[in-house]
Amino acid sequence: MKHLTSLLDLSPEDLFAILDQAAELKTLFKRGERPQLFPGRVLVQLFEKPSLRTRNSFEAAMIHLGGSGIFLTTAEAGLNGRESLADIAKVVSSFSDLITMRTFSQKLIEDVAKYSSCPVINGLSDERHPCQALTDLMTIRESLGELRGKHIVFVGDGNNVSMSLAIATAMTGMKMTLAAPQGFEFTQEFTTLLTDRYPDHQVTVCTEPFEAVRNADVVYTDVWASMGQEDDAERRKAAFSGFQVNAKLMATAPDTALFMHDLPAKRGLEVTDDVMDGPQSLVFPQAENRMHLAKGLFVWLLNQAAVRA
Ligand code: CP
Ligand code: NVA
Repeated sequence: MKHLTSLLDLSPEDLFAILDQAAELKTLFKRGERPQLFPGRVLVQLFEKPSLRTRNSFEAAMIHLGGSGIFLTTAEAGLNGRESLADIAKVVSSFSDLITMRTFSQKLIEDVAKYSSCPVINGLSDERHPCQALTDLMTIRESLGELRGKHIVFVGDGNNVSMSLAIATAMTGMKMTLAAPQGFEFTQEFTTLLTDRYPDHQVTVCTEPFEAVRNADVVYTDVWASMGQEDDAERRKAAFSGFQVNAKLMATAPDTALFMHDLPAKRGLEVTDDVMDGPQSLVFPQAENRMHLAKGLFVWLLNQAAVRA
């Protein structure tokens, strides 16, 4: 049974198969076609944190493909200790075809995947956001074509989004620079994991955003305080004050550089309005692509499950 708990669950070939499938379904959708590939199929979503894009793009994708979705919060799913995780996974997967999860702990998703009889998808944990990174590659490919050799400069936190993006770049021969204040870089544990799996990766870390963006193809940022870090927001605001993506930073990057953000954005903190709404910004096509990518992923996972059945 294939799952997507992290991009490390996929081979580079799997990753490109998902991107191709998503692109094909997007083309059909834009022509007004919604192939009914999954009539009667059920997506169950178990979410501990809020979500606009992930939750709704997953549900819309399943509905477009002919299926439907059930959404459960922590309490409704019993993730607060009402029953064991193994029991929850066995029960939910017995009447659903796909499970998506948004959690604090990465291990929670991996544990549910262990006991689930259907594929489990990570819709964000504190450590990973694989569907976002896949969507980002899809979006970059639409604008720049070939991914290999392209350079993403992530100005911000060494968090779930940037870690998944780093894995995605390593899998596709891209370059990535994380420009982060000291103390907010990738953990040593993550760097070791990445290097063990992809020894030739071109992921580097620096503390100088203006130097880093000079040869960027994409300038990317995310919130300074992620969900669950609200109490640390003021300290982070001070630490990241020189890391705002604004017109001055974008003027240092090549004119052709694109701007991306996974959203939600805190306008005026990590990014200014003029960059978010400017001509280099891809943020809204990027958000739309969450839905197209979800379709590609669902089709790929359910086809894999069917091959094994
Ligand atoms: N980018 C993203 O995952 O957005 P949501 O938190 O709204 O799902
Ligand atoms: N890093 C952010 C991403 C939100 C989609 C968070 O975890 O809150």
